[in-house]
Amino acid sequence: MKITFYSIIVVSLFFGMVSCKKDKVTTTLDPNCTDTVYFNQEILPLITDNCSGCHGSGNSTGYTLTNHTNISSNATASLNAMRGDGFQLMPQGGPALNDSLIQKFNCWINQGKLNN
Ligand code: HEC
Repeated sequence: MKITFYSIIVVSLFFGMVSCKKDKVTTTLDPNCTDTVYFNQEILPLITDNCSGCHGSGNSTGYTLTNHTNISSNATASLNAMRGDGFQLMPQGGPALNDSLIQKFNCWINQGKLNN
């Protein structure tokens, strides 16, 4: 009986520690994403300057990137393409965008792809 009692305590301590560790991980903010990213002032110009020339309406690439709706629905593919991660590196022919721009786009996705 005593042994069972102690095992329960040991086991719950163990899970307690594990869940604390987990909580800590999920609540850690990406230090690069503490500032709100604005779609109209930051993301739309980023895409317009670097992508919309080839991804405007009526293009044949399969990706139209011109407004909040289509940029949001292609956001993950676009991020991966900016990183050359599993997709062709974009802008096509390179060079890759500046890291800080890619990070900004990543933060906008993490913050819920707001139309702000
Ligand atoms: C110089 C023209 C050009 C520019 C600039 C450009 N793209 Fe592309 N993009 C293309 C073409 C052409 C394709 C289709 C390539 C193919 O299917 O072989 C493509 C394909 C893609 C794909 C799919 C890639 C894949 O591997 O399936 C994504 C996502 C994409 N572009 C996003 C972007 C983003 C985001 C930007 C801006 C950072 C951008 N593109 C800038 C021409 C361009």
